[in-house]
Amino acid sequence: MHKTLSVAKDTWWVGVNDYETDLFESLWPLPQGVAYNAYVVLGDKTAAIDTVKGPWFDDYFDKVTSALDGRPLDYLVVNHMEPDHAGVIGSLRCAYPDLQLIGNAKTLPLLREYHGIEEGVVQVKDGENLDLGGHLLAFYTIPMVHWPESMVTFDSATKVLFSNDAFGGYGAHEGGLFDDEKPRERWEGEMLRYYATIVARYSGMVQTALKKLSALDIAGIYPAHGTLFREDIGQAVELYDRWSKQETESGVVVAYGSMYGNTRRMAEAVCRGISEGGVKNVRLYDAARSDTSQILRDIWRYKGLVLLGCTYNTLLFPAVDALCTKLINRMLKKRVLGIAGSYSWSKGALDALRAFADTVKLEKIGPEVEVFAAPTEADLEQCVELGKNMAKAVA
Ligand code: FEO
Repeated sequence: MHKTLSVAKDTWWVGVNDYETDLFESLWPLPQGVAYNAYVVLGDKTAAIDTVKGPWFDDYFDKVTSALDGRPLDYLVVNHMEPDHAGVIGSLRCAYPDLQLIGNAKTLPLLREYHGIEEGVVQVKDGENLDLGGHLLAFYTIPMVHWPESMVTFDSATKVLFSNDAFGGYGAHEGGLFDDEKPRERWEGEMLRYYATIVARYSGMVQTALKKLSALDIAGIYPAHGTLFREDIGQAVELYDRWSKQETESGVVVAYGSMYGNTRRMAEAVCRGISEGGVKNVRLYDAARSDTSQILRDIWRYKGLVLLGCTYNTLLFPAVDALCTKLINRMLKKRVLGIAGSYSWSKGALDALRAFADTVKLEKIGPEVEVFAAPTEADLEQCVELGKNMAKAVA
């Protein structure tokens, strides 16, 4: 998509679709690309809201100049300093030497260290306004959603909240930008995958931000990635409220690590037990081969989690261990947890999973299953029992 689009009165989308980055933050796959949403608001003065990632300057700048239609750019609002949104600030300043940058106290050191910019910067406080003439922009800090300088910008003329990474999702725009232009199933999963990978650790701060912004009369939520919300902003707010409270649906994620298929058979037996227990939402993942961002997304969606690992060099199989580390980092709560391990010449996996369970303090569902070498029929029956107990716990 290479067109500047009107998205509200005097307001233009000047973002870009990125289909070339394979891994967001060099970590998370982008099978459907990602959009860097940026905006221009035209009052008596003109303002850009955020920029884009470095390689996309030409595309972005074409759209900015098209929106400005010969006018100068007076302000750049820097809602966030992560380089996917702030990557071309220096280039934009070169194009518009009189450009004033708007940021808060936490923005300024990052502007200096990333871009060497100290002049022409306006420091705003939480709740402070900038009058463009016809558009009054208000700035609200949302610390640690998901960086310390993160803030949002509210235009009281259009009632649009430029929400930064909050409410963002993976996936490039496929024609439509708005929630009323695409099916919910096309954006919700990618929004949750973005939440689980990027924002989840800061869920407590998301709750603080939602409370702070709840007093605003918002007609549109325009995030820095993914779908823009105008038809039903309530659905976006409700999802963010649920995810940040770690509220879940009935279902179980079963993630395993297996070298020769024995632990996989245990995982499959657990899944069979969950299914026999009447739970339809069962997601089975080989932790070594599956996209971790999809595992995290589904863990954030469902109440039940079962982790199984074989022992590798006296420790927990590395891919399962790495998943545990990510879950500890995201401060997973309000789930029920089952664990199982296998070993041959040395134990280790189940002990590590017990330590993980102690760290995350989730309610544990039994039985714990530990298998020597290949699972016997009795071992597999134990796994089925664990699955059935999980089904009861998530019903
Ligand atoms: Fe999309 Fe935190 O940058």
